[in-house]
Amino acid sequence: MKCLVVLTGAGMSAESGIRTFRDSNGLWNNYRIEEVASPEAWEKHPEVVLEFYNQRRKQLFEVEPNAGHRALVRLEEKFDVQIITQNVDDLHERAGSSHVLHLHGELKKARSTVDPDLVYELDHWELKMGDTCEKGSQLRPHIVWFGEPVPLFDQAVQIAKTADIFLVIGTSLVVYPAAGLIRYVERDVPKFYVDPQAFPVHGVPKLEVIREKAGKVLPKLVEKMLNRFA
Ligand code: APR
Repeated sequence: MKCLVVLTGAGMSAESGIRTFRDSNGLWNNYRIEEVASPEAWEKHPEVVLEFYNQRRKQLFEVEPNAGHRALVRLEEKFDVQIITQNVDDLHERAGSSHVLHLHGELKKARSTVDPDLVYELDHWELKMGDTCEKGSQLRPHIVWFGEPVPLFDQAVQIAKTADIFLVIGTSLVVYPAAGLIRYVERDVPKFYVDPQAFPVHGVPKLEVIREKAGKVLPKLVEKMLNRFA
């Protein structure tokens, strides 16, 4: 079975109703990154940070996967599909995708502030000051903040290197190290970049740019891939 690796970003979930970060109505127009998504913010005002992620989590309980997420599931009929996502939502999993690596963490999980291995599933939206791990320490969102290392990046690189086909969807490709993953893909591997604002990536050969919305074009693109590459 050919290995089809998919890198997704916020645009993947846009048609589910989740705002992206850097579009004209993106989240970072309303919030300063360093005030809500950094270790310094957590030091300075943890309650503000918790509230920011509580609102994101609350919304996540109210939205559904879109046609783009569902189309990617169909690829599993004929490919070994590995999804690497920058998204902290669980819409790929809820659509039915089997292999999803969350580079930037997961909104529906919390983790201990004294032991990073203590990670808990949240079945409710609100994480509060005073919610503690089993060792008695405050829980924080299980999110990779700006300025923090990306623990799963090496694993993502290994996956990218095995790609026979590489698909990038809905990401501005400005946040590293995730944005650099495409450069680990073999040169002769066919690559596709689906994003209304996609641009040719310098030095990346065999890249087809598709300037469309994911929910609109993925059902058609997936059909094409099942016929052409499998
Ligand atoms: N379908 C496909 N792409 C879309 C759609 C859509 N319906 N709507 C918007 N987009 C595209 C935009 O054109 C843009 O290029 O999605 C991209 C979103 O870019 P960003 O907001 O920068 O999101 P992302 O690339 O995922 O950000 C990376 O930055 O803020 C941090 O940790 C956060 O994981 C995030 C990382």
